[in-house]
Amino acid sequence: MAAALNSNLDGTFFRGVDSFFTANTEIGLTFDDVTLATLYSDILPSQTLLDSRLADSLRLNIPVVSADMDTVTESRLAIAMALNGGLGLIHYNMPEKDQLGEVSRVKYHVQGLIQDPIKVSPDLFIGDVLKLIEEKNFGFSTFPVVDDKGALVGLLSGHVVKPRYAAKKVSEALTPRAQVHTVTRRELGNDPITIADRFFTEHVGIHKLLVVDEEDRLHGLITMSDVEKITQERKEQFKPARDSQFRLICGAAVSATRNAFGDLDRSRILNHVGALVERGVDVVAVSTAHGHSKGVGDTVKVVRDAFPELPIIAGNVTSAAGVEYLADCGANVIKIGQGPGSICTTRVVAGVGIPQMTALYVCSKAAAEKKVSILADGGITKSGDIVKALTLAQGVICGGMFAGCTEAPGEILEIGGKLYKQYRGMGSLSAMKAGSAARYGHDKEDTTRKVAAEGVEALKEACGPVDRVLASLIGGIQSGMGYLGAQNLDQLREKARYIRVSPAGQREASPHDVVEMKTRS
Ligand code: XMP
Repeated sequence: MAAALNSNLDGTFFRGVDSFFTANTEIGLTFDDVTLATLYSDILPSQTLLDSRLADSLRLNIPVVSADMDTVTESRLAIAMALNGGLGLIHYNMPEKDQLGEVSRVKYHVQGLIQDPIKVSPDLFIGDVLKLIEEKNFGFSTFPVVDDKGALVGLLSGHVVKPRYAAKKVSEALTPRAQVHTVTRRELGNDPITIADRFFTEHVGIHKLLVVDEEDRLHGLITMSDVEKITQERKEQFKPARDSQFRLICGAAVSATRNAFGDLDRSRILNHVGALVERGVDVVAVSTAHGHSKGVGDTVKVVRDAFPELPIIAGNVTSAAGVEYLADCGANVIKIGQGPGSICTTRVVAGVGIPQMTALYVCSKAAAEKKVSILADGGITKSGDIVKALTLAQGVICGGMFAGCTEAPGEILEIGGKLYKQYRGMGSLSAMKAGSAARYGHDKEDTTRKVAAEGVEALKEACGPVDRVLASLIGGIQSGMGYLGAQNLDQLREKARYIRVSPAGQREASPHDVVEMKTRS
């Protein structure tokens, strides 16, 4: 009896999803406005599973996507995201052919296979190679040697790259082609790691395997240490996100491009998406600031008609009607968020947008009816925000969390002894001039006239490799799930109970009344 009373009392304060949000229709709530109530748990954080299905053929091993922004996702970050089980969306602020190249780099990246190894020419001197190593700070000293047509001539082993041999030519010092172990790309097939692993076991003392084509041109290098790392990784909890052919998954943004008459440029959109599909893209994202609009809907329809099986992400919206509209046009995954982003000024400039938790709730109801999934896009600054978002959405999109990572585009800047990387909104004037104007309903040329920017140019503190950032985010998500007794994301959505937080409660939630010495582990 007492137990029933107490659980009723809990229910009065900590409400399930529908009861909580319908009791708060008068106010727009975001992550810090709510907190989740704990529940009895027999689940340890380490036992939780984070896989998420975004569409039938698009499954992630962690529910995290990196934003299609020109200071966030190009191939390097997309590779790192997929290796960690997530997804990167390559931005479109670059010529289409460059974007295709970025997608190819992800799709043809096999961890362990260095596709474009640093090579040297037989005419160089060992002294030149030593200089190259010093200048470029290479952490290795073994190089394939190729002629000017790219054909393999031999291997320059680290044992001979020594100052005492500086005056010798590479051609005199190399291990000749006939003694170099190679494999053809065809022999590597769909599972190069297994083939390479077997090779290294069978060839005692050989640590490098070169990949060539039928004309003996060099196409890659596989090292034993990388293969060992991968074999180990395959036993790990969060596996890389791969397609059916063992390639890393990759997404790419496409624009609702218009022609000179202001009409949707259907043929250009179709050529663009067709070329992306040829490169093996797993999902395209029709990314705009206002997804509940004719241009975006028509773009989604055009792509859906031409590519019935291709997963399409579309957005952004913050209303149930917006979700229904894009789902009816053929989108599988809808991006939710207008103005929450760390570099966004849409709410300030245009006065529109809905705080994220309320937007996610409203959109999640429509998404469930339409059988599409939603991604919480923008405003995420800590792992706890992701846990809250995942009580309503199938995944999150982060820009600012990754913009300071080593793998994000752009140089590191040193200011006042601290290291930073550039991070800018795709609606900032400089990004719109570089190509993203259509995302905000403008022409690129408009940016020379009077157009209100909806984003700022900013800096993020450099934060090291994305592996490290993701490890701490994943740790946080798993803790949150452990507190709610949720073993997987479906259970997290079912079990979540919410309560609003007062301003004093928000202050209480962060470190207080101490002098902080260290904010990050
Ligand atoms: P975070 O908070 O992760 O947000 O940095 C990333 C998301 O912000 C959106 N985005 C913008 N929104 N003006 C906006 O109003 C902009 O200039 C802008 N640029 C990006 C986008 O949805 C991204 O994923």
